Amino acid sequence: MSGTIDIFLSRVAEAAEQSTLVKMTLSKPVDKHDELRNIYVKPVLIKEKRLYAFTYRFERRDEVKNYDIAQMIAALTELVPSRFLNTVLFTVNEDVTLLVSAKGKATFQTKKVQECREQNLEHDKQKVRLINPANPWWYQLGLTTREGKITADMQHKFKQIYKYAEIVESLIKPMKYDGMVHIADMGAGKGYLTFALHELLTQKLHLNVDIKGVEIRPDLVLKINEIIQTSGLKGLEFVESSIEAYHPKELDVLIALHACNTATDDAIAKGIRAGAGLIVCAPCCHKQIRQEMERSGITDAITRYGIFMERQAVMITDTIRALVMEYYGYKTLEMEHTPKNVLLVGRKTDKAPDKLMISKAISDLKRRYGIQNHYLETIL
Ligand SMILES: C[S@@+](CC[C@H](N)C(=O)[O-])C[C@H]1O[C@@H](n2cnc3c(N)ncnc32)[C@H](O)[C@@H]1O
Repeated sequence: MSGTIDIFLSRVAEAAEQSTLVKMTLSKPVDKHDELRNIYVKPVLIKEKRLYAFTYRFERRDEVKNYDIAQMIAALTELVPSRFLNTVLFTVNEDVTLLVSAKGKATFQTKKVQECREQNLEHDKQKVRLINPANPWWYQLGLTTREGKITADMQHKFKQIYKYAEIVESLIKPMKYDGMVHIADMGAGKGYLTFALHELLTQKLHLNVDIKGVEIRPDLVLKINEIIQTSGLKGLEFVESSIEAYHPKELDVLIALHACNTATDDAIAKGIRAGAGLIVCAPCCHKQIRQEMERSGITDAITRYGIFMERQAVMITDTIRALVMEYYGYKTLEMEHTPKNVLLVGRKTDKAPDKLMISKAISDLKRRYGIQNHYLETIL
C-alpha cells in the first residue's frame, strides 16, 4: 500500500512545485466518530510566498494551518491513510484520486479534466470568520444551540460581539509583539467578549495569547474556567479579583467593557501604570461625575433635564478620561460600539505629551461644570 501512497504524495509534491495544485480534499475518516470530519486544502499567497492552507473541519469548528510544500507532505503522511480513506488532488488539468479500502488496500485513479482550471490564491475570508458560532464554547456560554445556531434571544448579543471583534481586530492588527500578547479584560463578567477576543486572536490572527478575565464574582469565575477547560482553550483564564487588587506582571492590552462607574477608571489606571500599548474601554454608568455636577449647584439649562444631564455627565467623564490618557502619553480616539455605548481607545505613543496644555484643558472643564475631582485623576 505504501507504494501507492508514496506515488500519490509525489504527485501532490510535483503539482505544488509546478504551481498547478488547485485544491485537495481529505474525507471519509477511518474512525467514524473522529471529531475531525474532513480537510480542505488550497494554495494561498502569504507575503508573496505560496503556501497551502489546510482547513481542518471539526464537528463544531474550523481550524486553518498554512504549510509550505515539505510541511504539507509531512502533514499528509500523518493523515493518509491513518485518519482518512479518500483523498482527491485537483490540479489545473487532472483529478488524482487515492482511495483506501476498509481493509487497507490503496488504489489510485487519474482523470483528465475537459477545461483547464484556474487557481485562486486569494485567502478565503468568508471561511475564516471573525467569530464562529459553531465553536463549542458559544453553546456552553448559552449563545447557541448544541448544533451551533445562535438562539433567537441571543441574536442581538451576537451582533454586538461580532461588532466588537471587528473593532478590536482593527486595533490589534497594527501592534507589534514579541511572541506573546498579554491581555487583561477587567470586569469580564459572563465572558462573551473575552471568548470573542480569544477566538479572534488565536483562530483568525494566529497570535500566542495570555488573556486574563478579571472578575470579582466567584461564581462566574468558577463557571467560566470550567468552560475554558472543557473547551481545551489555551491562553485564557478567569481570575477572581477586583480590578484594584489585580496586578498584571506584563500587559500589552487593557480591556474594560461596561465596567460600571469608577471601575472603568480603576482599569484605565492599571493600564497606564503597567504601560499597556493599547487601552480599550466601553465606559458605563457615569455616576461619579454626575453626582459632582449635581452637588456643585451649577445651574445651566441642561441640568434641568434628566436625560440631557446624564448625557452631559457621560461626555465630561469620558472627555476627562481621554485627556488623562493623553497626559500619560496615549493618543486617544472614540468609536461607536453600540448605539448606547462608545469605545474609548488609547494607544501609547513615543511622542511627549503637552502636559501643561492638557492639565489646563482638564482644569477648565472641571471649573466649568463644578467638578472637584475626577476619580481617574485622583487615583493616578
Ligand atoms: C456589566 S458587566 C460587563 C461584563 C463584560 N465586560 C461585558 O461587557 O459583557 C460588569 C462586570 O464587572 C464586574 N465588576 C464590577 N466591578 C468590578 C471590580 N471593581 N472588579 C472586578 N470586577 C468588577 C461585575 O461583577 C460584572 O460582572
